[in-house]
Amino acid sequence: MLSPNQNHIVFFDTTLRDGEQSPGCTMHHEEKLRLAHQIAALGVDVLEAGFAIASDGDLAAIQAVAREVRGPRIASLARCKREDIEAAARAVEPAPSNRIHLVLASSDLHLEYKLRITRDQALDQTAESVRLARSFSEDVEFSTEDGTRSDPEFLLKMITVAVQAGATTINIPDTVGFTTPEEYAAIFRLIKARVPGIDDIILSAHCHNDLGMAVANSLAGIEGGARQVECTINGIGERAGNAALEEVAAALMVRRDKFLYTNNIVLSQLYPTSQMLAECIAFGCSPNKAVVGANAFAHESGIHQRGMMADPLAYQIMTPESVGAGHTKLVLGKHSGRRALADRLEKLGHPLDRNQVDEVYTLFTELADRKKSINDHDLLGLLQPGKSIPIATA
Ligand code: KIV
Ligand code: ZN
Repeated sequence: MLSPNQNHIVFFDTTLRDGEQSPGCTMHHEEKLRLAHQIAALGVDVLEAGFAIASDGDLAAIQAVAREVRGPRIASLARCKREDIEAAARAVEPAPSNRIHLVLASSDLHLEYKLRITRDQALDQTAESVRLARSFSEDVEFSTEDGTRSDPEFLLKMITVAVQAGATTINIPDTVGFTTPEEYAAIFRLIKARVPGIDDIILSAHCHNDLGMAVANSLAGIEGGARQVECTINGIGERAGNAALEEVAAALMVRRDKFLYTNNIVLSQLYPTSQMLAECIAFGCSPNKAVVGANAFAHESGIHQRGMMADPLAYQIMTPESVGAGHTKLVLGKHSGRRALADRLEKLGHPLDRNQVDEVYTLFTELADRKKSINDHDLLGLLQPGKSIPIATA
């Protein structure tokens, strides 16, 4: 069982569960296994490999991950139902360290309209299910689905019951991406102040991105007392997705002056993991995606390129190398200046004098007005005989 350490953030990856259950993200057995090995190499502490009761395929994939992947604790999701819990237990049983992750709604909206049970019935289910799960695993996480839209007094009651029944991690999901950073931090503070025995429990943040605040909310959760963050690679997940693991990890690294915590993420594996996920599902991330997007370390404008050439800190808060994303790119486009153009041509074996640079630059800006991106081949084309510029000799 993971024990609470106030200075350490536990990373819980749910790419293969919350991520996989969203449109375009279905993966088959071999893809899940390959990705699970990579997620383990990334250094996550807990890997949620699926939802065992969902299908025989899911159960088999979780079992394969539990048998073969070493490093993280392997988890399966289960609703608070006997058959779910037994399937989850069977699925994670082969792992040297495992977890059963229970979920039950805590908001009246979900209890009344989705589950059609009363609050008291929900409390009974909580206690019974946690006890049953504990009979299979020493490590049981309990999630209060729709926790951020729940009556705080009932939320506290449900968490108290779960803790008394033996839950070892308590997760407060922002299931519909509704909360704000300030509110989310306050929920964790309230739980820490009011739930007996909470100091022996790891509190967990699980945020969806419907209002674009999943990462900010996760970090606020940490400020409020959460010591586990649940995230997915590239932020995939239900609807607008989950908190992106690479963004949370990079924020903890870049702003370590503010977040004085350790974690086990191997930052240089962030980009390779993002790339591998994109190969396994139907889409990659957008070019301007933070940390792992194709443009995350690319600079086109002349002012920025000059700044970068003078000192990379001018326009970069982390290096691409630190997250395994290759090197800074100075991209040539219509906003680029003479200096970057001359620099690139020199790297291509064509050092030009000042007049030549002026001439090529004129041709370059004409081309850049017509063409969205300019590659090395285009640049060399500007030096061809027949154009006004003679080929420069190295
Ligand atoms: O968003 C959610 O509420 C969930 C739970 C199953 C943890 O994914
Ligand atoms: Zn979720």
